[in-house]
Amino acid sequence: MQHDFKAKTGELPIDLDNPDSIASMDAGGMLSAISGLPSQCREAWEIASTVTIPAEYRNRENVISIGMGGSAIGGDLVRTLTASEMNQPMTVIRGYDIPGFVSDKTLAILSSYSGNTEETLTAYESCNKRGAKIVAITSGGRLAELARKDGVPLVLVPSGLQPRAALGYLFLTALSIVQKAGLVTDKSEDVEEACDVLEQLVGVLGPSSPAEVNQSKRLAMHMFGRIPVIYAAVGFPAAAALRWKCQINENSKTHAFWNEIPEMNHNETVGWSALDEIQKALCVIFLRDKGEHPRIAKRFEITKSIVKGASSINDVHSLGRSELARLLSLIYVGDFASFYLALLYGVDPTPVKVIEFLKSELAK
Ligand code: F6R
Repeated sequence: MQHDFKAKTGELPIDLDNPDSIASMDAGGMLSAISGLPSQCREAWEIASTVTIPAEYRNRENVISIGMGGSAIGGDLVRTLTASEMNQPMTVIRGYDIPGFVSDKTLAILSSYSGNTEETLTAYESCNKRGAKIVAITSGGRLAELARKDGVPLVLVPSGLQPRAALGYLFLTALSIVQKAGLVTDKSEDVEEACDVLEQLVGVLGPSSPAEVNQSKRLAMHMFGRIPVIYAAVGFPAAAALRWKCQINENSKTHAFWNEIPEMNHNETVGWSALDEIQKALCVIFLRDKGEHPRIAKRFEITKSIVKGASSINDVHSLGRSELARLLSLIYVGDFASFYLALLYGVDPTPVKVIEFLKSELAK
């Protein structure tokens, strides 16, 4: 089905408050996967607690996290959350090649939900050759086979989900590995708090909460027929913005773009000058956090006046005490919003045929 953005700015095609219309379009069960994130996070923390990390893995000089798409974002979340605490640099790698610094002094977290992503498998072999201390996170596939063969610690998470819907498994097990490797303090309390916050949010953002008071439904309505542009402060809010973009791409099957403040104040803001018609096609979403630097808060306000040509400008505020809870709360509003936006476009949120097509063409 083709969608013309102008045709999509009038009346909404379905009522997001009608449970029947939701059920009829969600054949792949994405709503239950999204709603299950709090229990998935608790389970992930449990699973990770049973994994033994050998003594020689502790206190490495640097950390790399390797993965693609839904299996890469967990690395960004760990990196941005732990950056101020961890003395070792952490790099997130999305691709076939690994950096020159990777050695036996490296802790390498290899993450692929399916276990069969070629970039990750190629990078695994290179990490192995360099003697990096590898941990594999997967639900099975070739990565699990390799880890077993090589005697590498394996974090086996439940299968049957879309990788992007396994965020709790992939992110929290990676966080636990970094903790077990002695690089950060115990995060159990933060995980507990984050799960409580997410549980509360299911009631607030889930389908039984009406659009009138449901921020995710309202944002989906604003994004409908528009191109979402998500702006967030550098650090963990920016990682949440990337997650929003990818969830909108994969669940809602539309374009979405993101950038971080302050960097975008030095280039992208200038782009909000010409092309008035295009600006009207953009829906701006600011991800805000109570811990943001006061100068960043001021930048948000000034940036608002610069992007005023957008169809709408929306603030999403994080919730919770810990950075972990605040990060996951920002992500959760976007996960639900991308789900509702898919329904407005009349698409099943779950399948990602284009990704499967690419993988099958590459396999030929
Ligand atoms: C699909 C998704 C994708 C995959 C990516 C890598 O839901 O999120 O971005 O994560 O194609 O595949 P895996 O995660 O199996 O390594």
